[in-house]
Amino acid sequence: MDRGYSKGRMWALLLLYGVVGLAVLCEGACNFPAIFNFGDSSSDTGAIHFVFPYNMLAENPPYGRTYFGRPVNRYSDGRLSIDFMAYALGLPFLSPYLQSVGSNYAHGANFAAAGATVRDLSFIAPISLTVQVNQFKIFKQQVLATKGSQGYLPTADTFKKAIYIVEIGGNDFSYGYMNLKLTPAQLKQTILPIVAKGVANAVKDLYNAGASTILVKDVGPQGCQPFWLTYFSHSSSDFDKNGCSISYNDAVLYYNQLLRGQLAGLRAQLKGATIIYVNTFDIIYDFIVNSSKYGFKQTVRACCGIGGKYNYIYSIQCGVSGKLNGQTVKAESCANPATYINWDGVHWTDEANKILTRQILGGKYFEPPFSFASQCNLRPI
Ligand SMILES: *[C@@H]1O[C@H](CO)[C@@H](O)[C@H](O)[C@H]1NC(C)=O
Repeated sequence: MDRGYSKGRMWALLLLYGVVGLAVLCEGACNFPAIFNFGDSSSDTGAIHFVFPYNMLAENPPYGRTYFGRPVNRYSDGRLSIDFMAYALGLPFLSPYLQSVGSNYAHGANFAAAGATVRDLSFIAPISLTVQVNQFKIFKQQVLATKGSQGYLPTADTFKKAIYIVEIGGNDFSYGYMNLKLTPAQLKQTILPIVAKGVANAVKDLYNAGASTILVKDVGPQGCQPFWLTYFSHSSSDFDKNGCSISYNDAVLYYNQLLRGQLAGLRAQLKGATIIYVNTFDIIYDFIVNSSKYGFKQTVRACCGIGGKYNYIYSIQCGVSGKLNGQTVKAESCANPATYINWDGVHWTDEANKILTRQILGGKYFEPPFSFASQCNLRPI
């Protein structure tokens, strides 16, 4: 402390620091009062369940077994990264926008829908990113037009200060591979530039609708996931030393680079916006390469499944019964999901989502640099 201060001033300052310190230290205190989330099954907390009930795997056991103790319409044995994110910021889990009973939107809303694509396609589910952003616009208009104090709705100020998260793109790849029968190399040349542009358009739309802090997650290493490793054929030379498909990861890396470029363009264009690229590819790939450091014993093998090299058979997915070699079998959970990165062949385990979110919040994977720690007293996860 500066020697020039009188004792009185020093005490006054200490007191001030103390009061400010207390406010800052208050657990969960954060500059972001809400999260508005957009995406696919990696962050759907109920959208598809409420729109098309009895149609999704995640409505059934063993989904949700680790954390919730029952299926809660999340593609995980427990929580998703968005759940950990909300918790770390001192916020409740986000209510799905399409949940009509028991929702509280005071701290945000979740528009993510399983199967969603960036492009407006008829693929797994029709709730594309465009639809989700439009839903947000209607939601905001309706909230702002609502008179009187509504404890369960966000205020105009909350919309302004909220953090907006976009986590989507993986299904656009699957559509290209499955429906258009494209190879990874063809995907790069045809649809990936359109997908990256589509995400940028959505971000711009959100900005025009009042968002100022927007986090955009990349696409993770599909080439290390049982679905992409088993559904498509791979030559023996297509595997890296970690057992991941080189060509399928290469397509993802190419897309992520396009996305970086698109976001850089937006930063130059959108005044006052904070647009952050989140590199989850490197976080997950680090789990695979340095698995033991994180307590993982299995890297590319799914926890929930019924046999095969990757414990994943497309026709008998997690929680489903089917015929295998003339026997009726059921795809069940492994004994210790926390030792697996992959839950069901496509999605991450509760444990992987936890460490993934910890790494995101740690700040090393943001481009450009961004710090939650300086804006929030993060709850440990
Ligand atoms: C694995 O861990 C080492 C040591 O911490 C680190 O240098 C390396 O970058 C990690 N690998 C990946 C792929 O992140």
